[in-house]
Amino acid sequence: FQKKVLSGKRVLITAGPTFEAIDPVRGITNHSSGKMGFAIARAAIEAGAQVHLIAGPCDLNTPLQATGRITRTNVISAKEMHAATMASTDCDIFFAVAAVADWGIAKPSKEKMKRQGTKAPAIELIANPDILLDVAKAVKKKAGKPYPYCVGFAAESTTLAEHAKAKRIRKGIPMIVGNIGPDTFGSNLNQLLVIDDRGSKKLAQAEKLVLARQLIQLVAKKL
Ligand code: C5P
Repeated sequence: FQKKVLSGKRVLITAGPTFEAIDPVRGITNHSSGKMGFAIARAAIEAGAQVHLIAGPCDLNTPLQATGRITRTNVISAKEMHAATMASTDCDIFFAVAAVADWGIAKPSKEKMKRQGTKAPAIELIANPDILLDVAKAVKKKAGKPYPYCVGFAAESTTLAEHAKAKRIRKGIPMIVGNIGPDTFGSNLNQLLVIDDRGSKKLAQAEKLVLARQLIQLVAKKL
């Protein structure tokens, strides 16, 4: 039996990678599987929430679809993910779990780029919008509490705790969750470091769904 700690709450989640098209057949992406974000979606529904899951290109089924308590929006690029997210900020909790590409392609080619002998093309990159930062800037107060309550994720290869702590402050969010590496991408297992203004708490290695359930319990206490 699980207590329905998120009954009546609305939860917005970004998950998976983004894909930045260079031309119709090529692009830049990353190894995010979407598993952690989808696990959080499932755990939030189990806890009684209504979920909007905004997913980059990934190969996962929508969790607990039969409950009717999940809406999924599929997006490709960071720009699309940003637009879909900003249109859905009227919610209680925002989990920014997606591994958003930091850079997009300045001028994607409409046609497949042709090989020109040994010459390689120069591809100009432009900074993508920071979705979490923009949601954090749009946060309002509801009954004295931030609305939505924003939870960021941090995947760092070195000095996770320090980087994650700094990132929480820089993004202006109440909570950040560090993926304790090195093999979280694609794996069913993970270890998390949950950081808020009061300190940090380690969630020991477990299935992503188990960790997602623990995280939901921690976040529910903040509402
Ligand atoms: O500092 P960094 O951008 O890597 O922080 C990661 C956190 O910010 C994650 O929660 C990620 O989902 C979010 N993010 C975002 N939009 C971006 C880049 C990161 O929402 N363009």
